[in-house]
Amino acid sequence: MRILASDLNPEDSYKLMTGVVVPRPIAWITSQGDSGVINAAPFSCYTIVAHKPPLIGVNIGSRAGVRKDTARNIQERKEFVVNIADENLLLPMHESAAEYEPDVSEVELLGLEAVASDLISVPRLAQAPVSLECKLHSVTPYGETGAEFYVGEVVAIHVRDDVIDDGKIDSAKLRPVCRLAGPNYASLGDIITLKPIKQTERTVVAT
Ligand SMILES: Cc1cc2nc3c(=O)[nH]c(=O)nc-3n(C[C@H](O)[C@H](O)[C@H](O)COP(=O)(O)O)c2cc1C
Repeated sequence: MRILASDLNPEDSYKLMTGVVVPRPIAWITSQGDSGVINAAPFSCYTIVAHKPPLIGVNIGSRAGVRKDTARNIQERKEFVVNIADENLLLPMHESAAEYEPDVSEVELLGLEAVASDLISVPRLAQAPVSLECKLHSVTPYGETGAEFYVGEVVAIHVRDDVIDDGKIDSAKLRPVCRLAGPNYASLGDIITLKPIKQTERTVVAT
């Protein structure tokens, strides 16, 4: 089957693209606006943008042309935390995506614990095995439906001691969950380790 992108309406295009680009890692973002309410919501259009300084990017869509709470909070405070959900946190992470009024804290509602961050004013999630404290780097609008790509500079990284060894994260111990299309998730299957590719002198490597 061949599908022309120009024939797709926004909903069908969303359905198709979120089924094609899988699995996606999930940024479970805590943010806080001027009101002080701690917001938590998951975002799977999420990636590394640079590694020195570490920059991560998250695509936040709009709701009927209005910024989601997370986007509005980041605009207000210029800070946010990306928390990683492991298998134990799948359900509260999923439930935190429900549309709550801006004055409702998903953190309180879902029985999660927020702890103070070190370098920013927005708290992180105590139960998360990894949390990245981020300062807003830039916001770029894309497309026709009000999506914005938020890039954050990671200024502090919290990692639970048992999932890191010699500066490397052990994925098997981290047990992250990822998103497929719709309300479908996956955990890690088999981890396949291959021989590292030999780099030539001319290859620019990310060390
Ligand atoms: C696993 C998962 C991943 C999601 N990824 C995104 C995403 O990348 N971008 C987006 O705009 N919304 C995404 N959503 C939807 C938001 O989480 C949802 O709109 C949420 O209500 C936003 O909360 P907020 O208004 O408190 O910011 C995702 C939902 C789930 C369950």
